[in-house]
Amino acid sequence: MQARKLSHLTSLFAMMLLLGACTLSSATPSATTRGGSPPAASPGGQQAATASPSPSVPLTPAPAPSAPAPGLFGFGTAATDTAIAKENIDVAPDGAGLPAGKGTPADGVKVYVAKCASCHGATGREGGIGPALVSEPGPYKPGTPRTIGSYWPHATTLYDYIYRAMPFDRPGSLQPDELYAVVAYLLNQNKVIGESEEMNATTLPKVKMPSQDQFKPCWPVECRPDVP
Ligand code: HEC
Repeated sequence: MQARKLSHLTSLFAMMLLLGACTLSSATPSATTRGGSPPAASPGGQQAATASPSPSVPLTPAPAPSAPAPGLFGFGTAATDTAIAKENIDVAPDGAGLPAGKGTPADGVKVYVAKCASCHGATGREGGIGPALVSEPGPYKPGTPRTIGSYWPHATTLYDYIYRAMPFDRPGSLQPDELYAVVAYLLNQNKVIGESEEMNATTLPKVKMPSQDQFKPCWPVECRPDVP
């Protein structure tokens, strides 16, 4: 009884092995087709398994897929010159990076009223959601408001900051002429330039800010050599 049960189990096991071998040997070629190019497995082993599906033939394990090239992931795009130019917007203190364009305080008041006054106040002196931008020009005196006129070292970086950060809810949306104009308006309101002076890539770097000499110059010299 016990012996017969055992022999039954043994033949059942043998059949399972046989079935397993058949399934495996028929699955291997289809996996090869799916992969596109034939895998670098030992062809001898594969042929033997297909030709005589017997449990005595050693099963060849499926070949490890070769590492896919990074391009196969299918995400990301090549950086085009246009895409890089869109990100490359920095304007240095010496004016490097300023684009073509121009604007006067008279042009700038329209930009200011439409796009800035809601947060900085009707004339820029008031402030509101954003800080006041206009006050008596520097040199800066402790206890007085820190504004463009009293506490901003370079006129050029005003262009840079406003383009990259303002309007607060739509940064990067202003065109060069609008930027030169609103910068001219704010400089004029702070009594830094006259009311008919045009700001452009040549004139803006020449504007000397009233508090400039109170700052230790960091451009183009290194003012923090202790910081690596
Ligand atoms: C939706 C509200 C909002 C609008 C609209 C807006 N600003 Fe601002 N602005 C802010 C806030 C808030 C800050 C302070 C941001 C900070 O400190 O990080 C700020 C800061 C500034 C500063 C820096 C002030 C300083 O001395 O530190 C300038 C300059 C400025 N804005 C200019 C403008 C100009 C020009 C416009 C219009 C083209 C504009 N902002 C539109 C909210 C606004």
